[in-house]
Amino acid sequence: MQAFCRELPRRLVFTGFMGAGKSTVGLQVAEALGWPFIDLDEEIVLAQGASIASLFDTLGEPAFRELESAALASALRRDNAVLALGGGALESQSNRALLSEDPATILVYLEAPLELLFSRCEQQSLSQAGAAHRPVLDDRTSATERFLRRKPFYQTAGWRIDTSGRSASEVTAAILERWEQLIADRA
Ligand code: S3P
Repeated sequence: MQAFCRELPRRLVFTGFMGAGKSTVGLQVAEALGWPFIDLDEEIVLAQGASIASLFDTLGEPAFRELESAALASALRRDNAVLALGGGALESQSNRALLSEDPATILVYLEAPLELLFSRCEQQSLSQAGAAHRPVLDDRTSATERFLRRKPFYQTAGWRIDTSGRSASEVTAAILERWEQLIADRA
């Protein structure tokens, strides 16, 4: 076995569709590990001084995707960090390559059926006053197509965690248990 295989991963990267819980669970896992949490959407919003919705409006989606790829490349240079990707980040072949080439990164897919994801997003926009508007959700037919197109990419993740019927804390606990197991296996 090569030496790097026995090293502990230095990044946990959360993927999944909108409403999967990437930001909530990612933050909880980061806090538990004592690692910084990087939300790719937030990084872009901070750097551009504009919301995701207004970036889609003013620059268009292809330009947003370029910003997203640049933010990902920069975040992957951080060690001992937890990252939450936007739901569309894995559509880019170069983003997928960056993530899969790196043995120190574990990609974690938070899975749920599409209807549950839609309803969680609706709940968020109703219950959180400052919830970010998700332009990709405006057209349900195209959002469904995006989900189906992305699903095989999400499914390549090293860890797949079923989130249906589980609270964010329960999902976090399941991930931490898996992390502890990984540490024990490599000790
Ligand atoms: C998008 C998901 C959003 C955000 C943008 C586009 C998508 O992130 O990146 O609105 O294409 O699925 P979340 O998955 O964190 O909502």
